Amino acid sequence: MSEAIGDVIVTREDLRRKVAEMGAAISADYAGRDLVLVGVLKGAVFFLADLARSITIPCAIDFMAVTSYGSATDSSGVVRILKDLDHPIEDRHVLIVEDIIDSGLTLSYLMKNLRSRRPASLEICTLLTKPERRRIPLECKYVGFEIPNLFVVGYGLDLAERFRTLDYVAGLRAETISELSGGKASGVGGQGALP
Ligand code: IMP
Ligand code: MG
Repeated sequence: MSEAIGDVIVTREDLRRKVAEMGAAISADYAGRDLVLVGVLKGAVFFLADLARSITIPCAIDFMAVTSYGSATDSSGVVRILKDLDHPIEDRHVLIVEDIIDSGLTLSYLMKNLRSRRPASLEICTLLTKPERRRIPLECKYVGFEIPNLFVVGYGLDLAERFRTLDYVAGLRAETISELSGGKASGVGGQGALP
């Protein structure tokens, strides 16, 4: 497996430190409020599990699963909900917890969808962001790490369901990307985002 993996982008120590910082900030900002963390399946599961345990105020957890239509390297912004929230969010303080923001199209759809349910507030908490890839402006209240424009895996992020369970974030070798994406990855040297 290690031969498939490229450079380490975020170490496990940096993840641990950053998640603790984000949890402390969220605990302070949302004290006394009815907070719901909405995880975006499946990539955000590992981040959400650690983040939720570093939040010291009561909070509920709910999940959505979405799929974004598009080519192998670009999401189109047309999103289909595979699993909706279990509970209403009207008048509650909603924090979307996402693994990574690439073009921003998926989250911008999700924000629009959730906003129509009239939450008391709606904000985004993302572990990673690739600012260079952004195609639509998106306000994120909490951002863990800005990373360069390359495809990364680990700590929940996968390529064809592989590498999610790494406890750090790493790039992949170009050969691994073309092998596992069935030749669909057109991004040069593994640039871009596969769905
Ligand atoms: P967006 O709509 O282009 O912002 O796509 C965001 C989604 O694409 C994320 O929630 C991930 O599921 C996936 N994605 C984007 N970049 C990466 C990456 O580098 N590794 C793994 N998944 C990624
Ligand atoms: Mg995701």
